[in-house]
Amino acid sequence: MRVLGLCGSLRKDSHNRRLLDASAVEFGGDVELTVFEGLGDIPAYSDDTEAPASVSKLVSAIRAADAVLVATPEYNASIPGHLKNALDWVSVPFADNPLLGKPAAVIGASTGLFGAVWAQAEARKVLKTIGARVVEMELPIGQADDVLADGLTDPDLRAVLAELLGALVAEVHKAAAS
Ligand code: FNR
Repeated sequence: MRVLGLCGSLRKDSHNRRLLDASAVEFGGDVELTVFEGLGDIPAYSDDTEAPASVSKLVSAIRAADAVLVATPEYNASIPGHLKNALDWVSVPFADNPLLGKPAAVIGASTGLFGAVWAQAEARKVLKTIGARVVEMELPIGQADDVLADGLTDPDLRAVLAELLGALVAEVHKAAAS
């Protein structure tokens, strides 16, 4: 099974990127998690512009994956602009968008208290609107500077991550059977 990771942070030392790395370990050998590296290359969406190569690359990567896993921080109580912009690009034309029927899940970390819960809810809302089969779970990791200082070591958070990733795998099987 192939899962495409989308990171809502472009920061080199991103907590959310580390969450995707932890997810790759948690998935184990049956799932290959690849993080898409080109989100920062995607220009602002315009109806007047044809999708550039950076967008085609993302569309192909989503099509090639069995599922998508988004890890997002919270910026001003929502998802970072470049992530929303990338999802807007791939959502058109709707009938042929690569997220239609694609299993997807969202996790997130922030340095605030609430663990990017609003951003995760927003990301799920956007993915659902685009037609993805979204897992209705979240992994809120607050105070990430402390909690993720040595990676995802907290056993309770690891258990939630394992459950969420298990639900994503189950959604892939359900989608294949439908
Ligand atoms: C933030 N941050 C933040 N955190 C939060 O919990 N709620 C918020 O509304 C915001 N708003 C916000 C706006 C902007 C513009 C920035 C740059 C940051 C803090 C943010 O969660 C923190 O920087 C995370 O560590 C970013 O994630 P990465 O880069 O570590 O993955």
